[in-house]
Amino acid sequence: MKLNLKIWRQKDAKSKGSMMNYTIDGIDGDMSFLEMMDVLNEDLINKDEEPVEFDHDCREGICGSCSLQINGEPHGPDRAVTTCQLHMRKFNDGDTIVIEPFRAKAFPVIKDLIVDRTSFDRIQQAGGFISVNTSGNTQDANAIPIAKEKADDAFYSAACIGCGACVAACKNASAMLFTSAKISQYALLPQGQVEATERVQNMVRQMDLEGFGNCTNTGACEVECPKGISLENIARMNREYLSATLKG
Ligand code: SF4
Ligand code: FES
Repeated sequence: MKLNLKIWRQKDAKSKGSMMNYTIDGIDGDMSFLEMMDVLNEDLINKDEEPVEFDHDCREGICGSCSLQINGEPHGPDRAVTTCQLHMRKFNDGDTIVIEPFRAKAFPVIKDLIVDRTSFDRIQQAGGFISVNTSGNTQDANAIPIAKEKADDAFYSAACIGCGACVAACKNASAMLFTSAKISQYALLPQGQVEATERVQNMVRQMDLEGFGNCTNTGACEVECPKGISLENIARMNREYLSATLKG
């Protein structure tokens, strides 16, 4: 395949960025999107030009770092896959592909296609954990009975990889799908009950402090989420928040 690429280039966080045009040839349908980007970068390096910076780590759909806006969609045109698992067979010879970083005030661009998503880390640090007594008398977690349905739901919530596609898809740049998934995975389990009140209050407060927008129930986040995180998590977070507020 021969492709035309329109890619956001930005020298650093302070510089003004712009779209640049590139042509790339010899792309196989079995290549991943990131392998196509590798080919482009090899071409650029061979021509003594600056390669395009983009985030990636596992290339297996696990780490959540490969966040690219492809033709206006976070992680591109396929459903339930990350950019690293998107295959070039989803595109046709001669296509023009527009590649941008995730756009949100709380995700400032660092360089080219890389954005700073440490705002997600700070939301996690505000309450996305449980405190465990490690004195040696700790009860084995597997000794606590948990209904299968609850365990499954907690597992589905825990599948969130923190990629930020939900924010990039949302017209309000809301982080409620991410935050609610991180709250839900504990809210559904007995181990999460001890700190439940502080957790939801602290994580929602941090989410607002980071400058994410509010949820207006558009549902774009659920559509674009590569891990199928459900809007039910947002409803659960709102119930948890209301209950925490009533408890004072
Ligand atoms: S909820 Fe989905 S889209 Fe949002 S950060 Fe988690 S995995 Fe990514
Ligand atoms: S590189 Fe880890 S999810 Fe894509």
